[in-house]
Amino acid sequence: MVIRLGLKAQNSEVIIHIEQGSVRTLAQMIPPQYHAHAIVLLTDSTVATLYGDMIVEQCKDFARWKGVITIPAGEASKSRAIRDAIEDELFARECGRDTLLLALGGGVVGDLAGFVAATFCRGIPFVSIPTTLMAMTDSAIGGKTGINHASGKNLLGAFYHPHTIVIDPQLLDSLPDAEFIGGLAEVVKYGCIGDEQLFALLEESSSDVLARTPEIIQELIIRSVSQKVQVVSHDEKESGLRAILNFGHTTAHALEQLSHYKLAHGLAVYQGMVLATHLSCRKGLITHEQCKRILRVIGMYNIVDKDALQTRSALHALRECSADEIWRACANDKKNSGGNHKFVLLETIGRAREPLPISKEEFFQAYHDAVSMP
Ligand SMILES: NC(=O)c1ccc[n+]([C@@H]2O[C@H](COP(=O)([O-])OP(=O)(O)OC[C@H]3O[C@@H](n4cnc5c(N)ncnc54)[C@H](O)[C@@H]3O)[C@@H](O)[C@H]2O)c1
Repeated sequence: MVIRLGLKAQNSEVIIHIEQGSVRTLAQMIPPQYHAHAIVLLTDSTVATLYGDMIVEQCKDFARWKGVITIPAGEASKSRAIRDAIEDELFARECGRDTLLLALGGGVVGDLAGFVAATFCRGIPFVSIPTTLMAMTDSAIGGKTGINHASGKNLLGAFYHPHTIVIDPQLLDSLPDAEFIGGLAEVVKYGCIGDEQLFALLEESSSDVLARTPEIIQELIIRSVSQKVQVVSHDEKESGLRAILNFGHTTAHALEQLSHYKLAHGLAVYQGMVLATHLSCRKGLITHEQCKRILRVIGMYNIVDKDALQTRSALHALRECSADEIWRACANDKKNSGGNHKFVLLETIGRAREPLPISKEEFFQAYHDAVSMP
């Protein structure tokens, strides 16, 4: 399956291949115009061990194959120091403007590789090969690249798209459960904000989803990617519609900040979606029946460990912080304007609306609804 993301501003498109086993034929998906480029693989230490050899085996016959650059796995690599080290290494390998970067990894590798590609010799092409569910369904698509700064996450960056994205759901076989469940939070989000059929699939097939049944996982990825492509193609630079992708994320970012980034992003998003769902109901946008269905689906996946299905509801971060702390941490959200806190809410299952101003009282009531849940 091929999905195309049209970029009006650049009069170009990003080609997204989604197929089981596609990475085994990666060399064939490298666009012919780049075959004579210097080609470098950027990956992290964990992914290099798992899939590095497979990629090298396919790419080593390109005329100017320049080998692998491996960075330490983990968020700490989204730094200026690592970006500098990658650039130094590219120059040391005699890479110039005619270089193609292959980015193999999760969101960390993707964000970093995209940022290096955006600025190295004023911009070189890159091909993205996401290896986590989060990266396959979210971070690899949309052109947001960047690194962190001591002042905050993703504060240094650029909008810069890969030429091609190769998504091979088979790579998820090795993904730890916690990363898989974290990635599912974004899939649940897409179901809530834009795809009722995806929501129904998540609702009806939770055991197949959690067992990672290949056909179901591929379907979830295709539907999520389609959703993101649709939103991004209408709002390439995040100036309007793209805000709906923030459903659950306002509170999630506050919870992550309050936990000093110890709380996993996906688990924060589930809890943020619980709060935003209660807000949507209190505002009279969704019915109590719809509210119950959404909370049930979030609860099916908001689990720390899939073997603990019966015992965890994992609203711990919400419960550990007060409504006031979270409200104050939401004050810096980029959607806020005119002194108002704004949240993305649902109009129905499968449709979100643009951010709405929410009063402190409404937020506190929704918080109370959320933490009173069994
Ligand atoms: N650009 C965007 O639009 C966007 C959107 C959301 C998140 N992000 C960024 O994405 C990053 C998080 O990405 P992530 O959740 O993919 O984390 P990650 O890249 O750190 O990967 C998580 C862990 O899984 C390992 N891993 C990756 N693929 C694997 C596989 N197939 N098998 C086994 N292990 C594997 C990695 O080595 C790492 O240890 C954050 O920095 C976040 O800011 C960016």
